[in-house]
Amino acid sequence: MDITIIGAGNVGQALGAGWRKCGHDVVYALRAASGKNADTVAAQGFRVVSLKEAADADVVVLAVPWPAVAEALQAAGSLAGKIVIDATNPLTRELELALGFNDSAGETVARLTPAARVVKAFNTTGAGNMATAHAFAAKPMMPLAGDDAEAKTVVAKLAEELGFEAIDAGRLTAARLLEPLAMFWIKLAYAQNFGRNFAFSVIRRER
Ligand SMILES: NC(=O)c1ccc[n+]([C@@H]2O[C@H](COP(=O)([O-])OP(=O)(O)OC[C@H]3O[C@@H](n4cnc5c(N)ncnc54)[C@H](OP(=O)(O)O)[C@@H]3O)[C@@H](O)[C@H]2O)c1
Repeated sequence: MDITIIGAGNVGQALGAGWRKCGHDVVYALRAASGKNADTVAAQGFRVVSLKEAADADVVVLAVPWPAVAEALQAAGSLAGKIVIDATNPLTRELELALGFNDSAGETVARLTPAARVVKAFNTTGAGNMATAHAFAAKPMMPLAGDDAEAKTVVAKLAEELGFEAIDAGRLTAARLLEPLAMFWIKLAYAQNFGRNFAFSVIRRER
């Protein structure tokens, strides 16, 4: 599958490395052709293209900081018909949620990308887990939210290939729940001294 990742930071690099191992064709769409992150992924053999070429893929992943979302999407141009994975979390500089309850980053991304098939995913665990999910004793979960069932099936498969149990969390409005869940992961990791080598998983009782 052709995957373009907008952003080559912690999340972009982890997902790109993971999916390349699974045989996908990963390209980075970046705001500058050179710089720390661009040079790193280029040295790893990834193709780097401009933001306006982001739409040349089956799947476009948004992995930029929240304050950059609107600018990055505007530069990318129309993503109509594309599966857009929104991995962002709407965080302020103080690491608090910038919005919630009646809106989400996922829904904001959908409003900014008319006719794109937006799926919220890859926001509820640390970047360090994204290409190492197979290393956990139990499968970490990867909740997905979106309004396009077919797009969610594609994203679920991409999550499962990386070693996650994909969990359909429902409509895109469920991003309002997944973004605070990411906040909980951040709180445990940094304020509660869990460190970053943990992930959430779902366990079930037999009866
Ligand atoms: N870090 C995590 O563990 C984690 C986990 C889940 C979700 N998230 C979310 O995922 C997103 C990315 O996080 P990250 O840790 O990967 O961030 P990061 O390491 O800071 O990387 C951000 C990337 O976005 C690019 N970028 C910044 N401003 C841009 C703009 N105006 N237009 C286009 N590209 C721009 C940066 O470009 P340059 O390369 O040019 O600097 C960089 O490649 C955030 O929304 C974050 O909340 C993070």
